[in-house]
This record gives sequence, structure tokens and C-alpha cells, in this order.
Amino acid sequence: MENQSIINEIRSKINIVDIVSEHVALTKKGQYYWGICPFHNDKNPSMSVDEKRQTYTCWSCHNSGNVFNFVEQIENISFREALSMLASRVGVTLNDSKKNNSFVDKYSKYYDIYDLASKYYELMINTESGKKAKEYLKNRGIDNDTIKEFGIGLSLNDKDRLIKYFKEKKIDINTLNDLGLANNDIDTFINRIIFPLDDRNGRIVGFSGRIYDDTNMAKYMNTKETPIFRKGSCLYHYNASKEHVRIKKYVIVMEGFMDVIRASTIGIKNTVALMGTALTDEQISLIKKLSNTVYLCLDGDNPGLTADLHNGELLEKAGLIVKVVYLKDDEDPDSYILKNGKEKFEGLIDGALNYSDFRIERLRVGIDFNSDTDLSKYVNNVLKETALIKDDIRREIILKKLATETYLSYNTLEKKLLELADEGKKVDIIEVKREDKRRNKYERASLEFIYYMLFSERAINVYDSKKLYFINSSLRALAGEISYYYHNYGKITIADFYTYLNDKEELLTSYEEVINLNLNEEVEDETLDEYAKVISDYNVRQEIKRLEEKLKNEPDELEKAKISEQIRMLRIGGEPKWLMKNQQLKIRRRN
Ligand code: CTP
Ligand code: MN
Repeated sequence: MENQSIINEIRSKINIVDIVSEHVALTKKGQYYWGICPFHNDKNPSMSVDEKRQTYTCWSCHNSGNVFNFVEQIENISFREALSMLASRVGVTLNDSKKNNSFVDKYSKYYDIYDLASKYYELMINTESGKKAKEYLKNRGIDNDTIKEFGIGLSLNDKDRLIKYFKEKKIDINTLNDLGLANNDIDTFINRIIFPLDDRNGRIVGFSGRIYDDTNMAKYMNTKETPIFRKGSCLYHYNASKEHVRIKKYVIVMEGFMDVIRASTIGIKNTVALMGTALTDEQISLIKKLSNTVYLCLDGDNPGLTADLHNGELLEKAGLIVKVVYLKDDEDPDSYILKNGKEKFEGLIDGALNYSDFRIERLRVGIDFNSDTDLSKYVNNVLKETALIKDDIRREIILKKLATETYLSYNTLEKKLLELADEGKKVDIIEVKREDKRRNKYERASLEFIYYMLFSERAINVYDSKKLYFINSSLRALAGEISYYYHNYGKITIADFYTYLNDKEELLTSYEEVINLNLNEEVEDETLDEYAKVISDYNVRQEIKRLEEKLKNEPDELEKAKISEQIRMLRIGGEPKWLMKNQQLKIRRRN
């Protein structure tokens, strides 16, 4: 808490307009300052700076935040670094006794323990007992410099070596259990090569351990979910990749950390690894922070290539430019580089396919060009993909290729494409409408209600007293945090709330969605009540739906009666108007 207030103090001494102006030419128009957004390829000024709220928002790429977020991204530095930078500007000295980045006081002990554990593992790999592990790494072409760069270490073949080590440091086993470093009084990692995993600020928050001489065990073992670690929010090498991504202007996304480490040995360091998981929203938002251009370079096996397709789509939807480094023959970047060397791999990167070309490329797989059915399926699928491409020149290139490949005439293909493109337009319009409609009355009420929670004490009171429940888990968590923050700090400052969300990355998207509604800050009591009613009515309706579904599948008569009663009660308490209409219907039917 103490720390949070220093952070807020530093923020309040700085005017975001001054800081942004150092990087972006700003012009004042009305309430806001406007400038070209530095975080995407902006043509017209899409970024506004709100001097009153001390926040910035790009209305095109949706990047938004307070002065810390701005400096973090424009300088490509961590929150902690941005904080020190701005602190020294306003002459505030930070207590820098810890050289790690643990400003989140609650967890600083955890970060310290991980730091110590990591150092311990690093020491162990350099002992006599670490010889075999070193040998293994050497055989894989990983030298001492790389071991050091990635903090690679070793857990010894001993069931409680780490527990004993921490016992000397007066750290009890319960803490180690909580942190996933021990389990049932034995070390979690035994006889494994240890790869430290760090968070977006470069703090070590977990480990992955690989077997190296015992083939019966699972190849990799990872830290379990802890208060500071979730595998799905982790992007391996994220923090260290920042400066390299900035120079190269794109980030390469790989599957495993061995791939990232291998690429580093040939000087390619603008890389991150998903660590084998499906791409999560949190990882997408981290990737967006790095760059607006992504090269997917997943394993060249079936799961990898399928994931390329799927992930590419997610990343494009998130507004990123996607390219695919197309590996084949079951190679992963690690094995490809070992076999073919630096230049070949760089060539592969230079020749990365546009995502849409990759999709077409993949359509060819498994097609028998001698079969008429296969061929027409293929042609149709390619044309469908091509219809979605906006660039005329690229469309023409694809058509020409397709004509040569299939011996069909260019004109036939073009005619067919035009028909499809026409339909495509219709599809586009339908989709746009669907988008619009997606925010139905309930969703609007939820978003707007939460928006007012940021400005109105009464909204928070309504939220607390009615125990409002939001179906969307991230909105629900956000509302909870706003109420918590309000009760803890007594008031909400929009700019400082961004800081508070710093280690709650998963809520940021929702927060931005809410704050960018940009409504008035004043709200009538009646409006709040109306929203609260829409929200709880909707919940009641959902609950009734759920119970009715249950009723259908319930064989037991007594249970059925109970459920019907529950439904009846909900209807009475939940939505009288709706109930009345329904009853009238029933009565009429009975007559
Ligand atoms: N992974 C995991 N648990 C497993 C297998 C894999 O967490 N049982 C994660 C690891 O983070 C790994 C990534 O998935 O980096 C990719 O897995 P895989 O392709 O099997 O590993 P490689 O990178 O090929 O590792 P190696 O070359 O050491 O076999
Ligand atoms: Mn591998």
C-alpha cells in the first residue's frame, strides 16, 4: 500500500501531456490533445491525451493507459524502469534496496525466493554433480555463455536439496509448497535441467525442468499454478526480447523454449515461446505490446501447423500483421537450425508467407490433383480465401498461380472469384451487423454500469448492496476490483487505477473496453437502478434457462417438482412483467 501511494504521488507530479509531447506532436482540439499514435502504423492522429484524467487512448489500435504505460511502451522498458525514470524527473527517490523488480509488495517475498532458488540451481550446474547435465547441453550445442544468458541450472538428484537450502535461510516448507518448489516434503524438481521462467518485468516466477538422463520421467515439468505464476499468461523470453523486437520491428513466436534458446545461439533474439500451450488472450496482449507484426514459427508437424492456422486467425483478429515461417518435415526451429544453420534459417524468415498465403498453401495438403472432385474442392477453397483478400495485386498473383497449377483458364477463375467476392461483401455486412448487435441491452448495461462505478460512489453502493453478478468473468473480476479499490483507497483516480491493474493483465482489456466508452462522468440515480435491474433480470432469465434445461433431463419426479418450484420462485421474484405476459398466455391456452 505504501508503495502504491508513492507511485501515485509520482504520477500526480507529472503531466502526461508533457511526456507524450516529447514523442508525439500534439494539437489541442476541444477537450483533448491529439497526435499520431506511436504504437501502430497510424496515418491520421488517432491518439488522444486527456489532460484531466491523465490518460491516453488510441482510438484505432486501442492502446491506452496512464503515463507509466506510455513510457513503458515507448521506451520498451519495464514498469519498474518507467517508474524510476519518471521518479528521478520529479526528484523522488525510490527505495531501491532490492535489485529485482518486486514493487508489488505482497509478493516480494515470493519473488525473492524464486530468485534465490534460481541462483542456487545455476550454482549446481557448475559443480562436479552437474557434469552430466553440462555434457548433455554441450551435446545439444548449448555453450556456457548461453547457459548463463538463459540462467539455465540444475536440480540435483536428491529428494530435498532445495528444501534444506531454504531451511538454512529460515524459509519454511509451507511457503515452498505454496510456491510449487516442494511437494509433500520433497523437492518438486529432482535431477532436471532447470529453465527459469520470468514475467513481463523480468522477475523469475517459475521453472521448467527437463530430464537429461532418465528417460522414464515426463520430459518437461513446470511449476504449478501459484499466486505469481500461470502458464497461460507466460511468454518465454518476453522481457529479454523487447529491445531486439524494437530493432527488428517484429517478433517471432515459437513453440518451445529450446527453440528460443537455439535461435539465440545464432544471434536471433527477437523471439518468444508459447511453452507448448494454446495461444491465450493474455499472451496475445503481451505480443501486441511487443510489436504489431508477428512471425509465427511453430513446429512443422501437424499440431504445429494447425496451431499456426488457428493462432494466425486469433492474432489477425487482434489487429496484428501475421506472417508464417513455414517449417516442414516435423522440424522445429531448434532441429532446423541445428541441421541447416544460421543462413538457411534467416532465409526462411525472410521468405515468411503472408498469413493468407499460408492458409492457401495449407489447402493444397492432401489434395490429389488427378482427382476431379479433389481439384474442384481445392479451387473453390482457394477462391474463397482469395475473396477475403483486399489487395488486388495479391489476388491477381494468387489467381495466376492457381491457373497454372490447375490448368484452368485465368478468366474462368476470375469470373468465379468475382461472384464469390460479391457474396463476400454480403457476408461482410452481415458480420458487421452481428458485431453491432453483439452488445445487446444486457452487455451495454453491464459495461456502462461498471463505467459509472469508476466515477460514482452510488454506483459502487448499488453494486455492493445488490451483489450484482456479471456473467462475463473478466467484467465480474473488474467490478470486484473497482469496489475493492474504492473501499481500500477511498476514491478512484482513473490514471492510478491503470497502475493498480498492472499485475492484473487479464483485466486490462475489459478495463479499456469500459473506460473507452467515454461517457459522461455524472449519472442519474435512476439510470443506475435501471442498469442494475437489467443486469439482475438477465441473470434471473439465464438461471431460469439453466433450470429448465435441468428439468428436461431430470428423471426423478420429486426433484422435478423442486426444480419447478425454484423456477416459479425466480419468476415471481425476478421479472414480474415478463411473468404476467406469460401467465396470460397460459390462461388463454387453458381456456
Ligand atoms: N511442454 C511442457 N510439458 C511437456 C511437453 C512440452 O510444458 N510435457 C512445453 C515446454 O515449454 C516446451 C514446449 O512445450 O518448451 C514445446 O514442447 P516440445 O516441442 O515437446 O519440446 P521441444 O522444444 O522440442 O524440447 P526438446 O527439444 O528439449 O525436446
Ligand atoms: Mn525439440
